[in-house]
Amino acid sequence: MVSSEKKSTEAADAVGTSTALRKEIVDALNEDLAREYKAVVQYVVFSASLKGAQFGDIAEQLKAHASEELSHALKLARQIDYLGGSPTVKMMPAQTSDDSKKMLEIDLQAERDTIQHYRERIRQAERAGEFALSETLREIIVEEQDHEIDLRDALGID
Ligand SMILES: [Fe+2]
Ligand SMILES: [Fe+2]
Repeated sequence: MVSSEKKSTEAADAVGTSTALRKEIVDALNEDLAREYKAVVQYVVFSASLKGAQFGDIAEQLKAHASEELSHALKLARQIDYLGGSPTVKMMPAQTSDDSKKMLEIDLQAERDTIQHYRERIRQAERAGEFALSETLREIIVEEQDHEIDLRDALGID
């Protein structure tokens, strides 16, 4: 009798923990989603606004980045829904500049921050046993690293 009571308490604890963990992941993924919306807006605007022949190639790449950031947002929204959450309608405030080099620096910093957040998110997903989420985040982080490389190359940073 005592052991079965103990068992049901443990089960309740396990369910409680996983619910709390799921909520923590959903909240964090919604921040990631808000950051992806911001990335879409910045890449749309910057790809059209970069001035100077030396930025011709990167302007084309930024258009591709915009599409990829949108696909990241779609993937995150689907994962949030799967986990029982509601995908946010809020975006993080976009940054801008009149200076082409500064635009690329803003994007580079944003990509670096984003990569840091996805590293942490992958760890969270693994801890929670959410392996499909982890796999999706790994696909996204590969593209974020490509974006970082494109921006570093355009800025002449090693
Ligand atoms: Fe992204
Ligand atoms: Fe990116």
